Amino acid sequence: MSQIARISISVEEELLKKFDSFSEEHGFPTRSEAIKNVMREALIAEEWTKGTHVAGTISLVYDHHKPGIVQKLLETQHDFCPEIQCSQHVHLDHNNCMEIIVLRGTKERIREILKQLRQIKGLKHVVLTMTTTGKHLH
Ligand code: NI
Repeated sequence: MSQIARISISVEEELLKKFDSFSEEHGFPTRSEAIKNVMREALIAEEWTKGTHVAGTISLVYDHHKPGIVQKLLETQHDFCPEIQCSQHVHLDHNNCMEIIVLRGTKERIREILKQLRQIKGLKHVVLTMTTTGKHLH
């Protein structure tokens, strides 16, 4: 457990007012928690720029009736076995499926998976959420 440091910062009143209402709207219990979250977001973005090992999820939405789409999705995922930790499939309605793939590995490999998934014809949405392995964040 790292020690807690207390800081004091100077900020324009208008900016602080906006940030406080942002933090309230997004459910942060205190201003400190909201600021810490912003700091971690910045560090995670940095990890994705400079770091080697990262974690993330890819969410996909598609119509499973599209010819070949299910097979292509499976094959692509099997090509990235070491990075794919698990996946979850949700049948949204009669036609639509959502798949959430949890990933861990080098950012190059994760970006490669994203690229290959995006090339599959018929996907309605593909989105990567970048997060951290947590090793360098407290
Ligand atoms: Ni389904």
